[in-house]
Amino acid sequence: MNHQASTPAWPRLSLSAVARTLDLAPEVVDRLTPVAGPDGPRLDVPDRETADRLLTRMNTEPEDRATTLAARPDPDGDPELCWLLDRSARLLISQLGQRRPGNPAWAALPGGPVARHLFVWVFLTVTPYVRDHHAAIGLSDDESWASLSALGSSLAGDRRINGRPGLDATWGLPMTFSGTGFRLGRLAYERQPRHTAPGHPILRPGESALNTHIPGNAGPLTPAACDASFDRALDLARGFPEQVAGFGCHSWLMDEQLADHLPAESNIVRFQRRCTAFNDRVRADWAPILHVFRRRFEGPEVPRALLAELPQRTALERAVVGHLRAGGHWYNQTGWFRRLP
Ligand SMILES: CC(C)(COP(=O)(O)OP(=O)(O)OC[C@H]1O[C@@H](n2cnc3c(N)ncnc32)[C@H](O)[C@@H]1OP(=O)(O)O)[C@@H](O)C(=O)NCCC(=O)NCCS
Repeated sequence: MNHQASTPAWPRLSLSAVARTLDLAPEVVDRLTPVAGPDGPRLDVPDRETADRLLTRMNTEPEDRATTLAARPDPDGDPELCWLLDRSARLLISQLGQRRPGNPAWAALPGGPVARHLFVWVFLTVTPYVRDHHAAIGLSDDESWASLSALGSSLAGDRRINGRPGLDATWGLPMTFSGTGFRLGRLAYERQPRHTAPGHPILRPGESALNTHIPGNAGPLTPAACDASFDRALDLARGFPEQVAGFGCHSWLMDEQLADHLPAESNIVRFQRRCTAFNDRVRADWAPILHVFRRRFEGPEVPRALLAELPQRTALERAVVGHLRAGGHWYNQTGWFRRLP
């Protein structure tokens, strides 16, 4: 489907001029270089009414909808940001359905409210293209909107953690809005490039695993909900050119030390037991502090004063804090298990 705008909207600028004015980091310049030229589709940035409808469909909280709509970039007032919006959207469209090796986060843009919401406008601009792509790979309409609702939950999550509206650095949203990341029921996934080298924990050369995410605020991680989601993912993967042969999940929830603290029948422990191998272990005390308590801290050690403030109502809250108090650490690692479509 053609979603191109009929009239040119955005200013003609060069990447180097925009990079200078906005003080863009070298990795942002590298990212945009392939789409810096004058060619390519002229994109239709949604008007406020359309944007409001899309944001609502993406389960965006009213407060985040309001700050986004108030921060729609204006070609006269924000020419560099508008150029950046246009090229970032073109980049996502040029990568629809293609997952490349390496995937740096999109760092938060420094600046005021328009800069902090700029990538929201990028994602809204590419939404019609991603929706077409979802239909082409076999996602249902509901699965498509549930996938794009990652934008609503990121806005709410970042606002709660930072105490101000707008998006932080985002690793997952560029994948969602280039169609390689999607939500299927309880879990979310990202397609991965084929694995090439021997020695992988579960994959043979040429095979690929779906990267699995466990969204918060979505109810318990019941085995039945996970089974249904994995089955649906394998069903969808039959249509992918890469040979999907299993799942990998990189998270603090894959730290096997959790099983020393939680009951054997807890959902987290039962999820871990699906995995037949673990690797990529890295110390990450910040991860349970962020994901369980929505708190951040500076430096390598969790401050004692912060530990003293954290609620201790549930078994997990007590496990996270008790283990740190006893001098232990928490780790991110990847759990893997093999399953073929
Ligand atoms: C993954 C998740 C859904 C599991 O919840 P669950 O299905 O209730 O998990 P379990 O059955 O293993 O819970 C065991 C215990 O931990 C508690 N618990 C689980 N997740 C909790 C959370 N996020 N905050 C506080 N307590 C939690 C449960 O209440 C239970 O304790 P209780 O028996 O005292 O009530 C939940 O932890 C969550 O939403 N986490 C955030 C998402 C996340 O971090 N994703 C990965 C990002 S890398």
